[in-house]
Amino acid sequence: MCGIFGYIGPHQAAPLLLEGLRRLEYRGYDSTGIAVKNGTINVHKKVGKVQDLRTVLPSSIPGTLGIAHTRWATHGGVTDENAHPHESAEGKVVIVHNGIIENARMLRTSLSVQGVALSSETDSEALAHVIERELSVDNNPEEAVRRALRQARGTWGICALFKDHDTIVCARNGSPLIIGQGVDEMFISSDPHALTAHTQQVIYLEDGDLATLTATSVKLSTLKGGKSQTKSSILESEWGESELGEFPHFMLKEIYEQPDAIRHCISGRLDRAGGSGRLGGLKLNPSDLAKVPHVRLLGCGTSYNAAEIGQLLIEKLARIPAMAHISSEFRHNDPVINPSALHFAVTQSGETADTLSAIKEIQLKGGNVHGVVNVVGSSIARLCGQGVYIHSGPEQAVASTKAFSNMVAALSMFALQVGRSRNISKERGVELIHGLQQVPHLVEEYLANQGPIQEAVDLVKDAKSVLFLGRGISAPVAQEGALKLMEIAYIPCLAYPAGEMKHGPIALLEEGSPVIFVAPNDHVKAKTVSAIHECRARGAKIILIHEEGDEIAQEGDVCISVPPVHNLVSPLLTVVPLQLIAYHTALALGCDVDRPRNLAKSVTVE
Ligand code: AGP
Repeated sequence: MCGIFGYIGPHQAAPLLLEGLRRLEYRGYDSTGIAVKNGTINVHKKVGKVQDLRTVLPSSIPGTLGIAHTRWATHGGVTDENAHPHESAEGKVVIVHNGIIENARMLRTSLSVQGVALSSETDSEALAHVIERELSVDNNPEEAVRRALRQARGTWGICALFKDHDTIVCARNGSPLIIGQGVDEMFISSDPHALTAHTQQVIYLEDGDLATLTATSVKLSTLKGGKSQTKSSILESEWGESELGEFPHFMLKEIYEQPDAIRHCISGRLDRAGGSGRLGGLKLNPSDLAKVPHVRLLGCGTSYNAAEIGQLLIEKLARIPAMAHISSEFRHNDPVINPSALHFAVTQSGETADTLSAIKEIQLKGGNVHGVVNVVGSSIARLCGQGVYIHSGPEQAVASTKAFSNMVAALSMFALQVGRSRNISKERGVELIHGLQQVPHLVEEYLANQGPIQEAVDLVKDAKSVLFLGRGISAPVAQEGALKLMEIAYIPCLAYPAGEMKHGPIALLEEGSPVIFVAPNDHVKAKTVSAIHECRARGAKIILIHEEGDEIAQEGDVCISVPPVHNLVSPLLTVVPLQLIAYHTALALGCDVDRPRNLAKSVTVE
């Protein structure tokens, strides 16, 4: 989604801004731009990638103060005019903005009435003009931004440059901004990733914060004009360099990183002697857990799929009702919140606006939310203040892979912990621990011998649509496989619980239709076999993900086996071939695997 990078210091700003934008590229965007101050403010912007922007830049852009932006269109089409930065009418103010200004129409109308000609269709541009109008009152950049934002309604991460002042003023409300403090230089970014090369000393702005930067100082205040409580902190080492190395794409690299990522996630969090999980960050002791009436899990996309697996594991092991919810629906359905219940917000980025809103809804109604989050220090991690970091390390491909696995691993450990406090025996706990501890090695074993992925790709790559089916714990795995293939190869995919297939999706099947079944050797396998027969009888071609040595292999046209593992952690194995099928299909179709069209790595608008 939109990204911001800014610099003020002794060095030339343009190369730093372009490098900052390059590091934000993985988030997904459709246009880019930079503004550098050198007497006047020079703005360059263009539809396309950072590489496309480079083609229109002059050979040198002098200036040591600047801001930059990658845009993912919300208000107004993908055009050069709508790209950021946006200039005010008299060129005294230039801004970049992430988020949505909800009263933009009203602001734009009032500006037009005052004779200001707007040059884009965006909500953001209005802010540049309103700040310039306020600047004319007292020529004070900080106060001008403060007064302008008080007139705005919506969300923002905003940075403003001023023709007549050597300062950047930035503010946050619902869209992340992080200040990086260097020696005699300051950086500002919407993503910690872009800061790691420069400094570890950071300030995560909180909602309602406003910051005025010079090369040597940061002045923090609140939008209301009071003192901000926000403190400086050290960037987590997890946000260190993540380069491609020998891999052609981040997605493939991240698929291969899964064994180590899972090791990292479970290490020190399993109590073998007690047969339980040990998730200290939850701040819940066994007697708290024994009283929990129900559990709700919230997430979007891949995180929702992982939450569904968490729901099944919690019910199975703890025998308490659990329910996964799609975050974007949650708050609009006016949910009943029981303050004694447990709520989990599952998210890789920790910045997903839909999940943030769902958390706020729960908190507003007196409930507590625990994060299951990858990005340390992200908005959701801080808003929840308690939970589990999944420790996947940086995930840069838009299609989530290793974060899914670690969310499932983290939720398995929680299910085990709550299960042990209420229902299951130590022996059952130890069995699951053993299963979880085997997973990293088994994923490595599978990756070393992946089976006929290419044959599966040949069946799906030209298909009109692909049906993914699974039962029980494999139904969300099928959903995750469908999401992966759809988002990076642009093939319409449908995922259903296998038993539901005969109630509708079966109508889609014709001679040669590819159907992918996820069928580990568990208690619902026999039922899944019936669904396979029903598909085959209609001429469908079956791609079967199964456990090595299982006789179910005779049911498939293309059979991909994974090593056998404890039933409750089978998603950590069965999802891997699905990730590989999606990856290789996208490659075969010439798609941009890491940055699929229209998508963003973190979706920071509702
Ligand atoms: C996954 O491959 C997707 N790109 C997407 O569905 C993603 O999982 C979703 O937007 C949620 O993101 P989050 O985990 O950062 O909250």
